[in-house]
Parts: sequence; structure tokens; C-alpha cells
Amino acid sequence: MDFSKKLSDLKQQHLYRSRKVTDGAQDVKTVINGKSLINFCSNDYLSLANHVQVKEAFKQGVDKYGVGSGASHLVSGHSLAHHNLEEILADYTGQARALLFSTGYSANLGIFSALKDELDWVLQDKLNHASLIDGNQLINLPIQRYKHNDLDSLNKKVAKQSGQGMIATDNIFSMDGDQAKIDDLQKIANFSNATLMQDDAHGFGVFEPNIPENSIYMATLGKAAGTMGAFVAGNEDFIEFLIQKSRSYTYTTAIAPAICVATLKSLELIQKGEQKAKLLTNIDFFRNFSTALGLPIANSHSAIQPLIIGESEKALSVSKKLYDQGFYVSAIRTPTVAKGTERLRITLSANHTQTQIEKLLTSVKYALQ
Ligand SMILES: Cc1ncc(COP(=O)(O)O)c(C=O)c1O
Repeated sequence: MDFSKKLSDLKQQHLYRSRKVTDGAQDVKTVINGKSLINFCSNDYLSLANHVQVKEAFKQGVDKYGVGSGASHLVSGHSLAHHNLEEILADYTGQARALLFSTGYSANLGIFSALKDELDWVLQDKLNHASLIDGNQLINLPIQRYKHNDLDSLNKKVAKQSGQGMIATDNIFSMDGDQAKIDDLQKIANFSNATLMQDDAHGFGVFEPNIPENSIYMATLGKAAGTMGAFVAGNEDFIEFLIQKSRSYTYTTAIAPAICVATLKSLELIQKGEQKAKLLTNIDFFRNFSTALGLPIANSHSAIQPLIIGESEKALSVSKKLYDQGFYVSAIRTPTVAKGTERLRITLSANHTQTQIEKLLTSVKYALQ
């Protein structure tokens, strides 16, 4: 296998990916190679990853539980900290039970793997996250996608299915920031012998969960909650079924219990609502200021505010110009987004100041010229 040739091909197509090493806590201000930057590409929407109370809870968790869980949940890795967090997450989402997974990626794979023998078809929104597509592939059902957020397209595809199915959607779409029409999707699921599954990775903690009866709900804890991990919430039988059948639940080490103690504190702060109010104010401010500058804004009221550029090379060059001006905004290219929709994925956090947002947008306008 000629990896060297493959890598140089990627470079030539402006699709080569590289990591930037940040030095310090995940926060609005970050340092890369000694350069101070304002971070506009973190999913730490509520600025909880470096919150003093969350860190304190984490330290207390380490004192009580040590640093590792030591085993999978079904062996000896399921501690009281995991159990308490599951109960609080169930309450928070208004469901009978919740089940923790180590990441959102593995939670999605785990849902699909558990449902392998139950499903005859799956329909997915065209812009669903890669983990939903990979889960679908894992169970050997064809990947069938309806047009993004398009109920007519979904209805037409549903009419061609037979047997038991699942309609899967992101709630807030990870690269576009817009929102799925959960109530309408549930209506379609109801009359088509299907279960609705939503991935609320980017809505959880920012918007109230909307979980129709008998639907499947997955959310992650590494974004607005500021820690890591994920959970699925639902009725008693479904959660017990996942414990029995979900391979990515069974065959992996449980997250550190201290992370669960920290996440309990995050949830307390989420429920207080102060960080969320700051984030929502920042989202409004960003959209108004973009409009005032004549910048295109997307149909997104979430923390994800994409700026479509349309070419990998240009997206990289704008991202680089912003970097030089002191702003860290990543360029998103194919295959993460469709060719021709390459973009800057700007993400807002509660602790951004309006001055930082103003300066970013002014620099974006300049970089686009
Ligand atoms: C919509 C969506 N689902 C799932 C995931 C995976 O979550 P995690 O990062 O916890 O594996 C992500 C993360 O990027 C996501 O954006």
C-alpha cells in the first residue's frame, strides 16, 4: 500500500487534515504554538469545560473514585457515580431511564447494533452525522437518505418501505446548525411502522429536549455539558434491551467515574440557566451583527453558525487569514460536508464577549474580500 502517494494526493486536493496542538484548558481563549487565539471552533457551547465548579467536582470525583473506571459497565466498571448520573439524566429528559455510553459515536453504533434483528429499513436525513451512517452500515441495511429536513422527500421514501423501520435524524445538524422538525417526523414515524431516533448532540443543554413517546433519544456530554460521554434515554424495557444487546456498550471500558461527578455539576449549572442565557444572547448578537455587515447568515439559531465558502482551498485560506488575526475557526471540507459547501464552522460559546464576536465578524468580512 502506497500511503505516501495517498497522502500527497490529499495534500494536492487541499483535503489533508492536520491537528493543531492547543496548550491549556478548553476555553474561549486558547494558545497554539505560543500564539494566543480566540477559539471560535469549540463545542464547549456553555463554557463548562473549564468552569471552576465543574473542575472542583471533577477533583472531588478523582479523590473518591480514582482516575479510571477499570472495566466495562457489565463487569466491575459501573460505579455509583455512573448510576447517579444516569438517574439525573433520566429525570432531566423526562424518561424512565438513561444509559451512559463512553462517546456519542459509540452510543449511535450501540443503538444500531442492538436493533440489528429488529429493523427492516432505516431512513436518514441527508445531513446526518457520520456516526449514524456508520451505525447503519454496521447492521448491513442499505443507506437510504431523504433530502435534508424535507418531509415530502421522507414521505415518498417511507411509502416504498415494508416491515419495521427507523427514521434517524440529528436534532441540531452538526455542520449547518439548523434543527430537525421532530414533531412532524414523529407523525410520519407513527403512521409508517417506524421508530424515530434523534441524535441531540448539539442541542442537549442548549435547548429543551423534545422526546416524543416511544422514540429513541441520544445526546452527548462532550459538547454543551463540557465533559465527555453520551447517553440514551427511553423507557425501562428499551434501556434494558440496550444493556443486553448493544455491543459498543458491552465491549468497552466505562468512562471515568470522576467525569460523571463533574457532569452532575454541569447539569446543575445547565438547569440554573445562566450560561445558556449568555449563549443565546451571543447567538442573537452574532446574527444581527453579521446582517449589519452584509455577511450571509445561515438558517441556524443554534451555537453552530456556518459560513459557506464553497471551495476547500478558499475555506482554508480564509481560516488561515483569521488565524493570523488571532481567531481560531476551522475550515470544514469534504468529505465532512458536500463538495461545493465547504465552509467555516463558527461556533459560539457562553463566555465569548460581544467585542470578540464583533472583531471576528469584521475580520471575516475583510478575509472574504
Ligand atoms: C451529531 C453528532 N452525533 C454524534 C457525535 C459523536 O459524539 P462524540 O464526540 O461524543 O463521540 C457528534 C460529534 O461530533 C455529533 O456531532
